[in-house]
Amino acid sequence: MMTPRLFDLTGRVAMVTGASSGLGVRFAEVLAGAGATVALVARRTDRLAAVKARIEKAGGRALAIPADVVDRGAMRKAFDEAQAAFGCVSILVNNAGIAHSTRAVELTEEEWQRVVAINLDAVFFWSQEAARRMLAAGEHGAIINIASVLGFGVAKGTAAYAVAKAGVIQLTRALGLELAFKGVRVNAIAPGWIVTDINRDYLTSEAGAALKREIPVGRFGEERDLDGALLLLASDAGRFMAGTTIVVDGGQMVALRGS
Ligand SMILES: NC(=O)c1ccc[n+]([C@@H]2O[C@H](COP(=O)([O-])OP(=O)(O)OC[C@H]3O[C@@H](n4cnc5c(N)ncnc54)[C@H](OP(=O)(O)O)[C@@H]3O)[C@@H](O)[C@H]2O)c1
Repeated sequence: MMTPRLFDLTGRVAMVTGASSGLGVRFAEVLAGAGATVALVARRTDRLAAVKARIEKAGGRALAIPADVVDRGAMRKAFDEAQAAFGCVSILVNNAGIAHSTRAVELTEEEWQRVVAINLDAVFFWSQEAARRMLAAGEHGAIINIASVLGFGVAKGTAAYAVAKAGVIQLTRALGLELAFKGVRVNAIAPGWIVTDINRDYLTSEAGAALKREIPVGRFGEERDLDGALLLLASDAGRFMAGTTIVVDGGQMVALRGS
């Protein structure tokens, strides 16, 4: 990929959680294409190995690190491994996430806690660990949290997910405020609907077709639609950005229902 100098990430070490499918795979490949070495984190080792092989075939450098983002011990080990292989992680993409479609009255305590643990708690603890290490190493860095338009609005059957993503947006502000003057920029991307494993069944159903009609650009997003926002926040191109969330949704959030 030809990357203008402004977006160049040569010599930077990135870590992407949820790098075994969907958006995370794309994020890892784009960061590697811009010159970063990339630590790939998720639970499915076979998929991580395949992503690593693809990045290396394209001339990049990657490391597969199997870990569950809710496991703090595995988290510290993941940063240790990445650091030993490549140096201090200076770009973290908190992308791992799960969805649910259970209505609030049926949502179990266990499901609520699991969704919040993966989609919100882990974003805090992985950001905290990354920031501690960047500060200790005197590294300037970027943390990019993957929120959602459901952090601003709600849909039926998404209570835990929407609350967690709203939390990610507010957490991004709080961390952005505390860390910006220390050289660590924390920002977020709030994607609209992008067809991946997390929502494929729903978006390709009849309900999904109705949803598509409400998106001003007239289609669901593709993974590559987030490349620009990712590179902006990860690179020096975004050097004056902190605590903000970029919405990339084909205009979905500004459209009035039925317009
Ligand atoms: N697609 C959309 O329309 C959309 C819209 C807005 C926001 N998002 C957000 O974008 C992010 C990526 O979603 P996606 O669409 O790419 O979905 P996806 O294809 O289902 O990918 C989810 C990723 O998260 C990882 N993951 C889930 N639980 C994990 C855990 N406990 N520990 C480590 N990794 C875990 C999965 O890896 P393993 O299963 O291998 O662990 C997988 O790599 C999520 O945060 C999602 O909420 C997506």
